Amino acid sequence: MDNNLEQLKNQAIEEIKKAVDINQLRDLEIKYLGRKGGELTKMMGQIENFSGEERKRFGAEANEVKKIIIDLFEQRKNEFEGLGAPVGALIDVTAPGILPPEGHLHMISQAIEEIEEIFKKIGFNRVRYPEVEWDWYAFEGLNMPKDHPARDEWETFFIDAPEGEKGKMVLTPHTSNGQLREMEKGKLPIRMINISKTYRRQSDISHVPMFHQFEGLYIDKNVTVSHLKGVFDYFVKQFFGSKREIRLRPYHFQFTEPSFEIDISCGICGGSGKLSDGNKCRLCKEGWLELGGAGMVHPNVLKAGGVDHKKYNGFAFGWGVERTYMMKAGLKIDDIRMIYKNDLRFLEQF
Ligand code: PHE
Repeated sequence: MDNNLEQLKNQAIEEIKKAVDINQLRDLEIKYLGRKGGELTKMMGQIENFSGEERKRFGAEANEVKKIIIDLFEQRKNEFEGLGAPVGALIDVTAPGILPPEGHLHMISQAIEEIEEIFKKIGFNRVRYPEVEWDWYAFEGLNMPKDHPARDEWETFFIDAPEGEKGKMVLTPHTSNGQLREMEKGKLPIRMINISKTYRRQSDISHVPMFHQFEGLYIDKNVTVSHLKGVFDYFVKQFFGSKREIRLRPYHFQFTEPSFEIDISCGICGGSGKLSDGNKCRLCKEGWLELGGAGMVHPNVLKAGGVDHKKYNGFAFGWGVERTYMMKAGLKIDDIRMIYKNDLRFLEQF
């Protein structure tokens, strides 16, 4: 190759490779390829000094050098403009995109929505009542006179406020205040579902100080335990699945008579208490899981709510949302407080 041409080529390559940004590259482009003063352009003009075979050879060599330099400019331009990727590997438009993180409702909010929907279908309307409540609605009107030992079960938070006509102020330790609040409205029959936050002074692996309950109340003429059973059977089959059974166990609450605890057959062992390998079921006690309390509304509660207990009667139930949800998911969480710890690694699973 012509000596001068060779020298110019090497010099240009070296400088182009050293360029650190697009501006330097543009300057070099002008320096070498500029239409008037460009060094390569000028050198190519020297072709006029050759003739014959020599002219042909010089022309071919100069074109080759020009091509090499243009390619190198292209490559470096891509590096600066083309997202830093080397030529040929710029953007793979067929690669799957990265999904931005997307939130969803908390597991307990999902459960509440589902419970609300299920009861709505059989005419139980969702209501909400105060979570800072008078003693009378939380206890006294529910057939629990002042200082009655039954109150101990509800580890109550009291509000540091003056006592009113209806006693002290408390944070609702259960949703049963909703029974009296609903009756007080004076509209019969009643089919309500009161889903709300409840508070108790307990915090350990199986208790959170704030949790949720859903309270059902049905008041009409001639309501019997069969109605209660029918409604639970419906709910359990909708929420847990068509194979699940319920059973009623006798229990005691001040505000219902008779009172029951409701169990559902276990979804893991199918109600047998044993797994297919013969081992004891890890989730349940002998095939059954405890859901929560229920019973026929006590006449004293009807009276307190202003309902004529000679004409009307009904049933009520109050269950924990967290507990009910965990049973649905077949979950045995080591520490129930996880539900409210905002650890996304846990919450994203539901
Ligand atoms: N309020 C009761 C509790 O918190 C549950 C219940 C509600 C029982 C209604 C019977 C009737 O445990």
